[in-house]
Amino acid sequence: MKQFNRYLVTAALPYANGPVHIGHLAGCYLPADIYVRYLRARKTDVKFICGTDEHGVPITIKAMQENVSPQDIVDKYYAVIKESFASMGISFDIFSRTSRQIHHQTAADFFKKMYDDGLFEEKESEQYFDEIKQVFLADRYIIGTCPKCGNDKAYGDQCERCGSSLSPDELINPRSALSDAVPVKRKTKHWYMPLQNYEPWLKQYIIEDHKEWKNNVYGQCKSWLDNGLQSRAMTRDSNWGIKVPLKDAEGKVLYVWFDAPIGYISATKELTEQWADYWRREDTRLIHFIGKDNIVFHCIIFPAMLKAHGGFVLPDNVPANEFLNIEGEKVSTSRNWAVWVHDYVKDFPDQQDVLRYVLCATAPETKDNDFTWKDFQDRNNNELVANLGNFVNRTMVLMHKLCGGKVPPLHAAVKDAADDAIVAMLQEAKQKISDSLETFRFRDALSEVMNVAREGNRYLQEKQPWILAKTPELQAQHQQLIDNCLHMCLQLTANLAIFTNPFLPFTSQKICHMLKVVDRMLEWENAGSMKLVSVGYSLRAPELLFKKVEDEQVKAQVDKLHAGLKQSAAAQQQPVAQEAPPVAKPEIQYDDFAKLDLKVGTITHAEKVEKADKLLKLTVDLGYEQRTVVSGIAMHYAPEAIIGQQVTLVANLAPRKMRGIESQGMILMAEDKNGRLVFVNPAEAVTPGSGVS
Ligand code: MF3
Ligand code: ZN
Repeated sequence: MKQFNRYLVTAALPYANGPVHIGHLAGCYLPADIYVRYLRARKTDVKFICGTDEHGVPITIKAMQENVSPQDIVDKYYAVIKESFASMGISFDIFSRTSRQIHHQTAADFFKKMYDDGLFEEKESEQYFDEIKQVFLADRYIIGTCPKCGNDKAYGDQCERCGSSLSPDELINPRSALSDAVPVKRKTKHWYMPLQNYEPWLKQYIIEDHKEWKNNVYGQCKSWLDNGLQSRAMTRDSNWGIKVPLKDAEGKVLYVWFDAPIGYISATKELTEQWADYWRREDTRLIHFIGKDNIVFHCIIFPAMLKAHGGFVLPDNVPANEFLNIEGEKVSTSRNWAVWVHDYVKDFPDQQDVLRYVLCATAPETKDNDFTWKDFQDRNNNELVANLGNFVNRTMVLMHKLCGGKVPPLHAAVKDAADDAIVAMLQEAKQKISDSLETFRFRDALSEVMNVAREGNRYLQEKQPWILAKTPELQAQHQQLIDNCLHMCLQLTANLAIFTNPFLPFTSQKICHMLKVVDRMLEWENAGSMKLVSVGYSLRAPELLFKKVEDEQVKAQVDKLHAGLKQSAAAQQQPVAQEAPPVAKPEIQYDDFAKLDLKVGTITHAEKVEKADKLLKLTVDLGYEQRTVVSGIAMHYAPEAIIGQQVTLVANLAPRKMRGIESQGMILMAEDKNGRLVFVNPAEAVTPGSGVS
């Protein structure tokens, strides 16, 4: 086994052409996050890299559909995606974007070096061209009738009705999606990477040297290599992307699958000056978490690029997951058959760990898997509430009731075999969880964690301290046994904080809070210890870790899925959405308006209001004074994300107490039809305290 001294973990850069859904989470972001949190707990040197993929046809298609510019699309979805991940506790060290200058430079330099080294073939080919718009058409931009099923809206690469993959030549009556013109063929020059030249090397690298890769990954690679590789164009005709850094390359950009993985390098550069340690030193372990549709790009094309360029480490593992279906059907963003992460967080505030739990427990690690809301409910109610939550709660309640709210001592005289068995069980569990995590078997690891809670419940049930304490006399007589039992259960609870931390970080934090222990306790080396909470230490009141998911909630979610589907079907038949005109308020006079004292201010401080999911407590600087404002935007903005944000404040609104805090004004927000709230602020920064009229 090779000795690695640092880790670089990446998660596939999502296209910034739509929000992320739970299939994305299950496919790569959640397993990557669990892995990284575990590595950090082991005090490993690790960087966790991600960002948005902002080039390529998917972006331009979306822009066309929404009738806005590609830049508008990527700006919008960068923010949405970043927020979704943050709200779910996905703990990237950086979440960058491929539109940043540093990436354009890095990718262009990478291409240029390969070009200078003579590693590309320059070839002319015939491509479809739109004579009206004067542009080459990517396959997706050609629409025609499917030869297989007769769908008259099939794309040049695929028919979405029957699922056949197509080439534009097969379409009957092809037309340009941009202008409806009949596309013509035109000669165009591109730079190709002769992948076949790397075949012997790739065979050694994958087939011989990485037999430990997951079966689904290894198998797919092997079949690509067995079928033989061909030259692949690394440039495209487009005006959206990274310009090909050569003379005479007007209108040519880098192929999105050439530029995007280089995004991992650019983002590392952006993150740390030590980036080269992570990319160039042989003792770095590079791991790419991806979904199965990305396997060939990460296992074959990108490694060939890295090898061709030279001077970079190669991926040591590529743990790809399969797909997660929803309620028995394939996720389809175009049909709106998906559970969106931002919707989940809105509908289940403070229950991020439930989704993390269910997605990990049912992760499509070896084959496609199904997510259903019923299963979500069952797992929450039967596993999180009834097992893990119940154990921790019973322990805390009994400790307060029977041990005066303090960690009781362990009396050696009355220790027994059951106590020893708990210690041994923990040691074994620690080993199994590590082994599973290190081999990317996250489901197994999580089930082992739940097993620890189950053993805890069993132990408690066997010891029955509540029976031993049935009357004050009995309790006095048995206090030593009671102490021992709760001492063990509290140490076990602390161990559960360590074990759950990679999977359920919010829950782990709650346990730490109750036990009044600091984050350092969560270090992996502490797992298995029975000295995590000190004897005599007084602990906080119990706080429920999980709550039941009710039948109505399940029904509401299933209904929502079907409603989304209907809506999207209707929208596709009727492109112009029929919307009710907004309700108008009664007319007012200028004097009514003039009564408002509107001021621009800057948010200088923001924090969550305890026990109020929707509220943030803000400090707004008006230049001449500071105002405290309580605002209902917590579901839309993380406190740290809005520091420095300029806002418009109704400065003469009568103060009002909310949750015990006096709110001295109100911030203006725009609300779009999806309920998203956006700040209303001056188009350019102005001095705090500026009036608005
Ligand atoms: N944007 C691609 C997708 O969503 C993934 C890109 S991964 C990268 O399928 F390596 F290219 F960045
Ligand atoms: Zn078809």
